[in-house]
Order: sequence, then structure tokens, then C-alpha cells
Amino acid sequence: MLFRGQDTSESLFPEDSSMRTQVAILGAGPAGLLLSQLLSLHRIESIVLEKKSRSYVESRIRAGVLEHGTAQLLCDAGVGERMKKEGLRHEGINLGFSGQLHRVNLSELTQGKAVTVYGQHEVLKDLIAARLRDGGQILFEVDAVSVDALLTKEPCVRFRYQGENLELRSDWLAGCDGFHGVCRPSIPPEALKVFEKTYPFGWLGILAEAAPSWDELIYAYHQDGFALFSMRSPTVTRLYLQCDPDEDLSKWPDERIWENLERRLSFVGPKKVRRGKVLQKGVTSMRSFVVEPMRHGRLFLAGDAAHIVPPTGAKGMNLAVGDVWFLARALDFFYSQGRTDLLESYSENCLRRVWKTQRFSWWMTTMMHRFERHDEFEHRRQLAELDYVTGSVAASTALAENYVGLPWAG
Ligand code: FAD
Ligand code: PHB
Repeated sequence: MLFRGQDTSESLFPEDSSMRTQVAILGAGPAGLLLSQLLSLHRIESIVLEKKSRSYVESRIRAGVLEHGTAQLLCDAGVGERMKKEGLRHEGINLGFSGQLHRVNLSELTQGKAVTVYGQHEVLKDLIAARLRDGGQILFEVDAVSVDALLTKEPCVRFRYQGENLELRSDWLAGCDGFHGVCRPSIPPEALKVFEKTYPFGWLGILAEAAPSWDELIYAYHQDGFALFSMRSPTVTRLYLQCDPDEDLSKWPDERIWENLERRLSFVGPKKVRRGKVLQKGVTSMRSFVVEPMRHGRLFLAGDAAHIVPPTGAKGMNLAVGDVWFLARALDFFYSQGRTDLLESYSENCLRRVWKTQRFSWWMTTMMHRFERHDEFEHRRQLAELDYVTGSVAASTALAENYVGLPWAG
């Protein structure tokens, strides 16, 4: 048996290869690690199991924009120190179209709120360091993971770790293992309803060693397709181009990428995209996906395991954070007061916010991308929508309040 605070220099496993904890968490992404951190603040014990290595998790480039409430929660959870120093507070974003940039003043439209540009992998580094410093248990590179006994009072995870077959029993199981994890597929299909939409395009993303030319993000609508100008730090730029969903990266030498970025991100004024060494390249497909409910017996799904949004609204990681905020609170009420009502309403509470965020991500995606290259009606409609969104206080306020993040509850 394992106990919180146990000296981690001892073997983690007892003779019989079975362990027990209060909450077993699958996946050391933002959902799993933040849940573990929040639970520890409530003195609830958890063990995190992760398929990949620590170095892989800490270097995988993914999200970069933290909602106002996400940044606040990281601070409240005691993992916001580096983010406060190194993260970039952005009080506005820009929509680019017809060669012009239009700034949406997020802070002015949302009573002072803002977003923070800080890489997801940096958030994960901070969370891993905090968990390990406080004696939290994260087992990296687990293999052959399966979950069982979900409808009993003691769900079970079986896995291989350092060559041994092990079993982890717990009161509750948190499925934070992403879209391709094992938790969601372990729920009988008849117990879940799936909602899905795929888009006829993807994003080709690069990370470049170049100082950002602009201070804030630019979402650009262009005849040739969408482009996004973003950043990670004062010396690293993150850029994306709309491409085919199954785009062959070998057809995109650096020169072709830069030419397309320069064309799609060309606006009135002296600034243009600054080129630099390409550090990373990849293609992301785009989909909207939700399963209902987000719970099966003692298994709770959180984050990408339960829902995916197209990245246009920068919402995926933020939704994962919102889910585990609900889950940590519900588990705290259970252990501290014996209350099960928040566990019962977990799925419903999360889904209310998930669907609003799905709507926003779908809306941003349809407004910013070229669907049919030759559909001139659609092109004019999109330009009119962009003109309206940037010209009307009511419409830009709706964009701003969604972009900085809707409240978690209510
Ligand atoms: P994940 O981060 O996928 O973590 C799941 C973890 O579980 C992984 O570490 C995985 O290795 C592990 N795992 C899988 N299977 C198992 C198993 N069987 N056993 C144990 N562990 C397992 N979101 C934003 O909010 N803002 C953005 O700006 C943004 N930009 C994005 C840009 C790109 C290019 C992409 C691809 C995504 C972006 N996202 C963004 C989305 C965001 O990265 C995800 O929504 C977020 O990572 C979800 O977190 P998660 O913890 O639910 O899942
Ligand atoms: C990013 O910086 O990776 C990023 C920013 C905004 C988005 C998506 C991704 O909407």
C-alpha cells in the first residue's frame, strides 16, 4: 500500500504488486497534473500514470494561450510563479483581413481581463516540479494500461511499469489521458453519446527562432487561407497556416512556409513577419468532438479525453483546466463533507461550459478559414462578418468575453 508522503527513495511497489490511492489519474497532461495538484491542496491523495517520458511531456509544443481564469487558478494552486515572471500578458488580439489589422481590446471590453501567453509545456514543467517537490507520485512511461471495475466502489487500473505488471486500486478514477487514451474507449459505447464535426482543413504550425514582429496575436483571414501569428517568448515566434487536413510536410520546405506566411500576414504599415530558424514543424487536424456524459460509474473524463475543439479559439487546454476545477471541488466536497451532489452534477456542469466553448471555437473557425476556394458568396459573407465583429462594440464584446474565458460556474 502507498501512503501520501512516503519516502520515494523506497520501492514504490509492495510485494503483491498492487497499490491503492484515493484518486487514480491517467495522463500527465494539463488535466491530470493540475487535478493532482488541486487535490493535494485539499489533502486528497492521488497517483498519476503517464504513458510517455517526463522529457517528452515537458517538451511537446502545444497550446500557448491561457485564459484569465486559467492563469488565476495556476497562481491559486501555487504553480504560477514562473508564469507571472515569464508569461506575456496580452490585453488585446488582432483580426487581420483585406490588408488591415483590427485590434480587439480584450481588457477594455471585459473589465480589465486579459490572456497570458505561456507555453503548455512550461505549465506542465511547473506542475511536475511542484508535485514531485511535495512528494506527489507521477509514474512516467507506464505501458499496457487498462481500466476495469468502473461500476464498483473500487475501480482498478492495470499497467506495466519498469518491467512489472501492476494494479492500482482507488476510490475514483480520473480519465485525463487525452483524445487517444484508453479511458473513453473503456466505456461501453451504448453508455455514451458522441457529437462530432470534422473540418476540411488542418493547420501547419512552425516554431521559429525569431523575435515576434507584432506584440499581440493576429488571426488573419486571407483568400489563400487562414494564418495565425503567435509567440512563445520575446525571442520565439509561433506561426500557423491553413493547409489540407492530410498535408504532406515534405512539400513544405521552409521557404514555401515563409512565403505563404508573408503573403497572408501582410498588412498596411511597416511591419512584416520576421523570419528565423525553424525549430519545429507539424500538421494538426481540426475537429469538434464531445462525448456525453463525462462520467461512467467511478470514472470521470476530463479534458481532451471528453472533448476536442478546433484550435482557433485557443480553448483546448483551458477547457481541460475548467473540467478539473469542477472535479477537484466535487471530490473535496465528497471527502470533507460526504457530499456526492457535485460528483453527480460534474458532467452536466462541465458540459454546459464545454458546449458554449465548442460554439465559440466553431464560430471562430468558420469565420477565419477558407472553406470553398471559389465560393465568392461565402467570401463576401465572411468579410462582412469580420467587418461587423471589429466594428460593433456588442459583437467585439462577445468575442472578447469568450476569448478571455467564460466563468466556470453559472
Ligand atoms: P493531453 O494534453 O493530451 O494529455 C493527455 C496525456 O495522457 C498525455 O500526456 C498522454 O501521453 C497521456 N496518455 C495517453 N494515453 C495514456 C494511457 N493509456 N495511459 C497513461 N497516459 C496516457 N489549447 C489551448 O487552450 N490554447 C491554445 O492556444 C491551444 N493551442 C493548440 C495548438 C495545437 C497545435 C494543438 C495540437 C493543441 C492546442 N490546444 C490549445 C489544445 C491543448 O493542447 C489540449 O486541449 C490539451 O493538451 C488537453 O489537455 P489534456 O490534459 O486533456 O490532454
Ligand atoms: C499558439 O500560440 O499555439 C496558439 C495561439 C492561439 C490559438 C491557437 C494556438 O488560437
